[in-house]
Amino acid sequence: MRAIHCVLRAVVVAAAIGIAAAGLVSSVPAIAQQPKVKIGLMLPYTGTYAALGTAITNGFKLSIAENGGKLAGREIEYFTVDDESDPAKAPDNANKLIKRDQVDVLVGTVHSGVALAMTKLARDNNTLLIIPNAGADEITGPLCATNVFRSSFSNSQFGIAMGKVMAEQTKKTAVTLTWKYAAGDESVGGFKEAFEAGGGKVIKELSLPFPQVEFQPLLTEIAALKPDVVYVFFAGGGAVKFVKDYAAAGLNKTIPLVGAGFLTDGTLDAQGDAAQGLLTTLHYGDGLNIPKNNAFRAAYTKAYSTSPDVYAVQGYDAAQLLIAGVNAVKGDLSKRAELVKAMETAKIESPRGPFALTKSHNPIHDVYLRKVEGKENKVIAVAIKNLTDPPRGCKL
Ligand code: BEZ
Repeated sequence: MRAIHCVLRAVVVAAAIGIAAAGLVSSVPAIAQQPKVKIGLMLPYTGTYAALGTAITNGFKLSIAENGGKLAGREIEYFTVDDESDPAKAPDNANKLIKRDQVDVLVGTVHSGVALAMTKLARDNNTLLIIPNAGADEITGPLCATNVFRSSFSNSQFGIAMGKVMAEQTKKTAVTLTWKYAAGDESVGGFKEAFEAGGGKVIKELSLPFPQVEFQPLLTEIAALKPDVVYVFFAGGGAVKFVKDYAAAGLNKTIPLVGAGFLTDGTLDAQGDAAQGLLTTLHYGDGLNIPKNNAFRAAYTKAYSTSPDVYAVQGYDAAQLLIAGVNAVKGDLSKRAELVKAMETAKIESPRGPFALTKSHNPIHDVYLRKVEGKENKVIAVAIKNLTDPPRGCKL
């Protein structure tokens, strides 16, 4: 009887402690349960740029995981939209995240045309936007804004670097080929500017609509023109097909093919022998032997059982930029001016090498000359050190 009494008493005490503890917990939610930070990921998950969107998402989430899975102690809720790399759908897609889901931060996207629409909406709604790829020059030019940041590049940068390298190699004539939209136009524009400044001549500018991949007639034209070099901008699934078609036409034996590094980044498994020896320019290379890149590559490969590429790096750095801002305001996103200041002055320890931002919020980074060797874009030289955006009318 006495034993039963003791057990009952213990149960009552435990229950009382439980109730008290519950009371205690419910008395601190103002500190412990701050609302989650809402992050909107607007990226392509279908179409020719699908793999790019996935790599950016993976890189972004890896950086957040390394930060304890939170932002300044606040939990995170993700909202995801597949933008299909379709500029016509961009305003609706961005509004789903801005107006319907009321995200605190918008992260996106890959395609310059879609990013231009996102930038306009982010400016109108004062939504913090971090662009982890799309390089439209205008975004860090006349459209620049205090709430718009880029962790990637601007489109003309890699064309400028390759134009300089090809002129230095004393190539005299070039043909350019690209998808006809901002990214391609600006990439080949950069190439033309630097190549002709170095004494070369672009004898023909070829293009086809995005995301078409009917390359055969264009390859026939290139064969007839016989330039010293061909410079292209293609990425994702289109880059895979172009490199294979170029080799299948036998052109890789007679006319050197070069490009912005997207031509061979994240694509080498699918391109196989057709990509061997290709020269490209980019702000990243798989084999960059610096501690941050080595650690990043090991962590990414462990987390996702696949190798990272430049898109994964840019996603990772978009999160690093956000973490710098959110930490500075201890998670209080209403302190926008302080948050922006911290992002603007952040020194990002990137797998590409450390970088800071220009006044217009674009990375200043080295651009590497890379050569495909096996499954690697091997860095063989620095094409341009600390490349910054040319001034393009950003007023900040
Ligand atoms: C762009 O549209 O800006 C872009 C897309 C893929 C790779 C690089 C740039």
